[in-house]
Amino acid sequence: MTDLPLAAPVDLLGRPLRDLRVSVTDRCNLRCRYCMPREVFGADFPFLERDELLTFEEIERLVRALTDLGVRKVRLTGGEPLLRRDLPDLVARLTRIDALEDLALTSNGVLLSRMAGELAAAGLRRVTVSLDALDDATFRAVSDTTIPVQAVLDGISAARTAGLDPVKVNAVLQRGVNDDQVEALAGWARELGVTLRFIEFMDVGTTNRWQRDGVVPAAEVAERIAARWPIEPVDPEHPGEVAERYRYVDGAGEVGIIASVTRPFCGTCSRARLSAVGELYTCLFAAEGHDLRSLVRGEADDDALRAAVAGIWTRRSDRASELRAQDGLQGPRVEMSYIGG
Ligand code: GTP
Ligand code: 5AD
Ligand code: SF4
Ligand code: SF4
Repeated sequence: MTDLPLAAPVDLLGRPLRDLRVSVTDRCNLRCRYCMPREVFGADFPFLERDELLTFEEIERLVRALTDLGVRKVRLTGGEPLLRRDLPDLVARLTRIDALEDLALTSNGVLLSRMAGELAAAGLRRVTVSLDALDDATFRAVSDTTIPVQAVLDGISAARTAGLDPVKVNAVLQRGVNDDQVEALAGWARELGVTLRFIEFMDVGTTNRWQRDGVVPAAEVAERIAARWPIEPVDPEHPGEVAERYRYVDGAGEVGIIASVTRPFCGTCSRARLSAVGELYTCLFAAEGHDLRSLVRGEADDDALRAAVAGIWTRRSDRASELRAQDGLQGPRVEMSYIGG
């Protein structure tokens, strides 16, 4: 073997690089107000041009380099990743990487009923669907869309039928917007047998008008669920798990809460994010990424790629959520739709 892997790097806080989120597009077919408010992401918003995007070949090469450095989980994300043409071809490429133990996809579900079968056939094993309300009017208001919630529910069914398992559902809660949906969503997920995770509303990016009083704290969500269906905590499956998990005492599966604001989990954060144009971000709240595309498109061989990423990771000290002040983070930050969840 000529390509001897470098030792798996750890960052300045002792955290390894295990998990990579790959954004394949910055576009989306919804306009969730907490993510892509239409006043900002309107008709004349300068979305990325196609030739700026990493090709599937370039993504595969970068993912291979990152697996040499310790990455074992990859999540495809967006924007909305199903808007990227021929996405199943990328899935097929990535499933051939032996070192990858887990390949998942985060989607808003709208196009899933059309694409679940093809994705499963390409080798995708599981999906996570974002769904913030079951009530149609609330769904349309949160997502600023005329698409009915039924489209997402159909997408979830199609994913299950295609054998994408488990299907997880993520719901971002906002006070006064959709916090009345907690019990309805939890009851629905219990019935259906999907794992639901509630997410605290975060100050990602600088356009979503985050305010702390918009956050519904994890403790309150757990209390409300427990008042209806008794729950008990479940130990994490692996270090660095973002969701606090609970099991329903009556055996109806699990529910999770992602408490990024009230109980940040930076201490075990082993996640890197690759933007659609090939910048590596070491934190969801970073202002800028590190350009890898020019290396991939230039003369750099795989050793040089690995050395560049190892250099970035060993200098990492991010822990933005732990440093968040009462009134939120300050300074420039990348948008969630650009870097993915
Ligand atoms: P599984 O692999 O299915 O366990 O997924 P996951 O638990 O990693 O969760 P997922 O990728 O679905 O992430 C859920 C949400 O948690 C994201 O959409 C973010 O809102 C939040 N989240 C995930 N990773 C981070 C992170 O590194 N920092 C912060 N602050 N929030 C995160
Ligand atoms: N706070 C919390 N979660 C968010 N997401 C997008 N923006 C935010 C935010 N400001 C979630 C989406 C989706 C995932 C990709 O990230 O709802 O589940
Ligand atoms: Fe699109 Fe997801 Fe952002 Fe909503 S949260 S606008 S579905 S990328
Ligand atoms: Fe990781 Fe940054 Fe999120 Fe902390 S805030 S968990 S360092 S991505």
